[in-house]
This record gives sequence, structure tokens and C-alpha cells, in this order.
Amino acid sequence: MAVLAFVRRWAQAEIALMVAAALLGVLVLTRPSGLYPWLKALHVIAVIAWMAGMLYLPRLFVYHCEAEPGSRQSETFKVMERRLLTIIINPAMVVTWAVGLWLAWDGDLFASGWLEAKLVLVLVLSAVHGLCVRWVREFGLDQNRNPQRFYRLINEVPTVLMIGIVILAVVKPF
Ligand code: HEM
Repeated sequence: MAVLAFVRRWAQAEIALMVAAALLGVLVLTRPSGLYPWLKALHVIAVIAWMAGMLYLPRLFVYHCEAEPGSRQSETFKVMERRLLTIIINPAMVVTWAVGLWLAWDGDLFASGWLEAKLVLVLVLSAVHGLCVRWVREFGLDQNRNPQRFYRLINEVPTVLMIGIVILAVVKPF
């Protein structure tokens, strides 16, 4: 029963993704005038969702460290972490990257210094995202290996990266 429900949800997610990709494909190929600012708005919306998740998830890890493995509290944290990651953070990162790369291509911006520097910081942010996926998996198996202090420190990394990325994107200092 659980397997069936999982397969159905997976199929629904795949169909939704294909429809979204097809719609985006049509928009990108036909390039209607005035599309750029709309996609820039979509980029910023996705960035906000990605950052909100990346700022909140390590805080959940901090509190999860205090919960006894197997306790009700620990199980609740597992659900919160998994849902935050799969429903908000992962899709938001995909949209941020896809639309950001399209903006750079459409605006012929790949040679700009500010964008190159921004991409380095975004790659570091994406690596932290990848580590968060691993930590959610480890907490899910009650196999966390890091102390609470470690997650307190990690909690600051997305904030620092975000400040640098936004300054580069908005001020474009070089
Ligand atoms: C994932 C890779 C990313 C790429 C390829 C990318 C690329 C771009 C491009 C080409 C623009 C349009 C710039 C313009 O028209 O002036 C833009 C705008 C912007 N991006 Fe990104 N971006 C990425 C990720 C991010 C992230 C992670 C953040 C924030 C944490 C961010 C924040 C912004 C902001 C705030 C703007 C609006 C800038 C403005 O209009 O003044 N981007 N991005």
C-alpha cells in the first residue's frame, strides 16, 4: 500500500515536472518580448525560497541534536527536515539555477566579472546544500555524527554567502 502511494506520488511529480519543463521550453524558445524581467522576478522568488530553507534547515539540525534518538520529538524533526528539503529547498534550487543560467545566456552576461564571482559563491552554496542532503539522511537513520556546535557554525555559512551573492548581483562592482 505504502509502495503504491509512493509510486503514484512519484508519477504525479514527474508529470508536473515535465509539464513545467515543456512550458519553460516553449517560453525560452519563442522568447516573447518582455520575458526577461518576468524570469528575473521568478529567479528572485526562487532565490528567496531556497535561502529561506537553507537558513532554517541547519537550525532544525541544532534542535534535533538535543532530541533523544527514537523519541517523538526526534521523529517530528525528521519529518520537518525531509519535507523542507524535498518540497521547498530542492525544487527552489533547481528553479534558481535553471532560470539564472537562462538570464545569463539571454543577457550575454557570462563574461561579466560580477557573474563569475557570483557563480563561485553559488557553487559553494550548492555544495552546502549537498551536505544538508547528507545530514538529513543521517538524522533520518539516527546516525548523526556531528555535535550541536558544528551545526551552529554551519548555520552562519548560507547567510554570509547570501550577503556576498546579493551584493555582486545588485551592485555589480566589477
Ligand atoms: C544558481 C546560479 C545563479 C545564476 C546563474 C544567476 C544569474 C543571474 C542573472 C544573470 C541575473 C540577472 C542580472 C541582471 O539582469 O542584471 C540575476 C539576478 C539576480 N540574482 Fe542571480 N543567479 C544565480 C543564483 C542566485 C542566488 C543564489 C542569489 C541570492 C542568494 C541570486 C540573487 C539575485 C538577485 C537579487 C538578482 C536581481 C539583481 C538585480 O536585478 O539587480 N542569484 N542572477
